[in-house]
Amino acid sequence: MKLAVIGTGYVGIITAAGFAEKGHKVTCVDILPEKIESIKKKKSPLYEAGLDKVLKKLVGKKLFATTNLAEAVKDADVSFICVGTPSAPDGSIDLKYIKSASAAIGQALSSKKKFHTVIVKSTVIPGTTDSIILPILEKASGKKAGRDFGLGMNPEFLKEGTALADVRKPDRIILGAGDQKTLKVLKALYSKFKAPKLAVDTRTAETIKYANNAFLATKISFINEMANICEKFNVDIYEIAKGIGLDERISPRFLAAGAGFGGSCFPKDVKALAAASRAASYEPTLLNAVLEVNASQPLRMVELARSLLGELRGKTIAVLGLAFKPETDDIREAPSLIIIESLLRASANVRAYDPKATANVKTVFGNMVQYCKKPEDTLKGSDCALIVTEWKQVKALKLNSFKKLMASPIIVDGRRAFDPIKAKKAGLIYRGIGWRNK
Ligand code: UGA
Repeated sequence: MKLAVIGTGYVGIITAAGFAEKGHKVTCVDILPEKIESIKKKKSPLYEAGLDKVLKKLVGKKLFATTNLAEAVKDADVSFICVGTPSAPDGSIDLKYIKSASAAIGQALSSKKKFHTVIVKSTVIPGTTDSIILPILEKASGKKAGRDFGLGMNPEFLKEGTALADVRKPDRIILGAGDQKTLKVLKALYSKFKAPKLAVDTRTAETIKYANNAFLATKISFINEMANICEKFNVDIYEIAKGIGLDERISPRFLAAGAGFGGSCFPKDVKALAAASRAASYEPTLLNAVLEVNASQPLRMVELARSLLGELRGKTIAVLGLAFKPETDDIREAPSLIIIESLLRASANVRAYDPKATANVKTVFGNMVQYCKKPEDTLKGSDCALIVTEWKQVKALKLNSFKKLMASPIIVDGRRAFDPIKAKKAGLIYRGIGWRNK
C-alpha cells in the first residue's frame, strides 16, 4: 500500500519506518523543510536507537519525504495523522496542528477520485476523531466520511529508546474504525504484523490509549508512594516491588520506584485526561493523586541530599543523567530539570553528565550548570552525586571511583543503579527514596 505520514515527530518517523520495513511505500510529510531534508539525507531528525540504520536502508526505496502534503496524500491510499498535540496551560491538549493537518488533507482529497483512508495516530481525547477531525475533513473535501473516504483511529504504544522494537513486534494493535471499509484497510495495513488485533470504534481506540498510559503512570506513582511510606517503616521498596511483582495480577514491570516519571507522554496524557474528565464534570481523584505524587518525587531526591549534607549552599552536586530515561535525548518533563532548578535555587554548584541530552539541557540552564563529558569528571571533588537517569555509562562506573573521585562519597540514587550492599562495602553512603536507609 502507499502511505502518507503527516508529521515527522517521534510517532510519525517511527510509524513510517515500521510500515516501510513491512514493504509499504511511505512518504513522510512535514511543514519543516529541515526535517524533510534530514530524512532525504538518510539522517533521522531525532535520536532513536537504530533509526538511522533503517533510514539508510530504506530512504529512496520504500521511504520518501516531502513538504508537499497535497501531493503525498493524492499519491497515497492511506494518510496517517501523526502531528503533535501540545499541552495548553490548563493541561488540556491543543489541537491546532491536528486541525490544520486535517484541513490540508481534506483539501487534497477534494480533487481525488480514488477512495482514501485517513487514520489518526496522534493521541487525542475521546471523541476528537468523530467530532472534530471528521467535520473538518468533510468540509474541506466536500466529501462524506464512510462513503467517499474512510476515517479511523489507530493509537501507538511506542516507548522511546525501544520504539523500533515496539513497532516491529507490538503486543497488540488497536484498530479503531468508523466504518467497515476503514476496518478492512487497517487490517490489510497490519496484515504482516503478528500481534493480537482488537477492532473497536474510534472513540474506544482513543480512550484505550489514554487508559493505557494513565494505568502505567498510576502504577509508577503507586510504587513511589509506597516508597515514601517504606522510608517511614525502614523497609526496602525494591524488595516490596519484587514481592508484589510475583503476583501475576500485578507483574514486576513498571514498579521501579524513584525520581518519578517524565517524558512527552505520561505527564501530558494524564493531565489531558484529567482536564477532559474535569470538563465533563467528573473530578478525577485518582489521576490528580498520580500527578501530585509524581510532582514531588524528584524533590525528594534533593531533600535526601540535603538531609545527608546538612546544607546545599556552596556544595558541589553531580547530577548523573539528564534525559527523562536512558537511550534518548528527550528532556521533556524530565525529573532532572526539577532537581537542577531546586539545587540552583539552594545555591549549590551543579555539575551534570548525560551522553545525549546535554545540548537540550543547555537550552534551559545555559551556563548555570557545568556540563561534563564523562561521568567521572562530574564526580571529581563533588560533595554528593544524584543518579537521575540509569544510563549504561552511569551504571558502568566503578563503585570505588565514587570513593576515589568525590570529596565525600554520598550518592542519592533515583534509579537503583547499583547493589546497595556492594556500595556499602565500597565505603559509599548510598541512599535512595524508599530504601532501607538506616
Ligand atoms: C510511554 C509508554 O510506556 C508507551 O507505551 C507509550 O506509547 C508512550 O508513553 C506514548 O504515549 O507515546 P515513554 O514515555 O517512551 O513511553 O517511556 P516509558 O519507558 O514508559 O517511561 C516513562 C517514564 O516513567 C520514564 O521517566 C521512566 O523513568 C519512568 N518509569 C518507568 C519509572 O519511574 N518507573 C518504572 O517502573 C517505569
